[in-house]
Amino acid sequence: MAPKHEYKPLMGEEISEDSQGHESLHPAKEEKNSERLRRLNIALIILIVLSLALNILQISLYKVLLSHTVQCESTTYRTKYAGLEEGEIDVFWNQKSAYTDPDDEVRDRLWDSLDFDPGVVAVPKAWAVEKGLDEGATFPWDSSKSLYFVNAYHSMHCIKQVYRAFRDYRMGNPPSISNGHVVHCLDQLLADIKCQADDTLRATNVSTPHNSAVYQTHKCRNWDALEEWTQNYPSCYRYGNGTFEDNQPSQLPRFRFCQEGTPELEKARKYFGKGEDWKPIEEKKFSWFD
Ligand SMILES: *[C@@H]1O[C@H](CO)[C@@H](O)[C@H](O)[C@H]1NC(C)=O
Ligand SMILES: *[C@@H]1O[C@H](CO)[C@@H](O)[C@H](O)[C@H]1NC(C)=O
Repeated sequence: MAPKHEYKPLMGEEISEDSQGHESLHPAKEEKNSERLRRLNIALIILIVLSLALNILQISLYKVLLSHTVQCESTTYRTKYAGLEEGEIDVFWNQKSAYTDPDDEVRDRLWDSLDFDPGVVAVPKAWAVEKGLDEGATFPWDSSKSLYFVNAYHSMHCIKQVYRAFRDYRMGNPPSISNGHVVHCLDQLLADIKCQADDTLRATNVSTPHNSAVYQTHKCRNWDALEEWTQNYPSCYRYGNGTFEDNQPSQLPRFRFCQEGTPELEKARKYFGKGEDWKPIEEKKFSWFD
């Protein structure tokens, strides 16, 4: 009730600002006038406070809406799981990277050093469900997590196996990778290429007629950022010597390489009946040159 009475005079006063001077000439109306002025002041203060409050509310709402839009925009340009930014970095399209070194030994060692183990990750099951992933195998040292192989690392594993098969062929060695494994890997790499459907146009150049993209840069995701992401979800995994490990009755030993000081390492020690002095992570990594 009260506010209604306070607003009415205000509306009247605003319109009759000029007449105020006349009215103050009549002493009888003086007291009534100062009362009206007092009420006007109160009403004005209420209005200013109200206006400020509305402004603050508006700014806050605007900020919330803005951050929401930015989030929506950024999720459309970020990968689903590791949140990598599409085309984050420009990479020179090196036609002769170190992986083409003409020295067989130097090149072989470089390919051998490609490490895809970090790509086996143990992520919280709840997070995987949220992402709509099919359920993975349970991580042996923490049942709240399940195991996944990041596709790019699986592809790296595959291209490394294919290189190794090619190396065996070049050296006249008996094949260390089975025919079936090589074909599986080529099939998966082909699937990757088709899935990616990378439409980047490789420029031709009359001065390099048999090569394209010679002077070009490539818009790429950031590999280091992916590697960093995998490090948040270590699974203690090492692929090791596939010929040997794949034929073991249990795959658990492949998950023994936990970081010192982690509950996972404690669980692994207990499982394998080992003590504090058992530090699998210090074991040398498998190499073709062993
Ligand atoms: C074509 O190749 C020459 C070098 O042989 C280079 O100077 C030139 O910039 C190239 N052109 C383009 C468009 O990349
Ligand atoms: C890998 O394991 C197989 C089977 O145990 C063995 O014959 C081979 O020598 C190992 N390879 C290397 C490079 O250690």
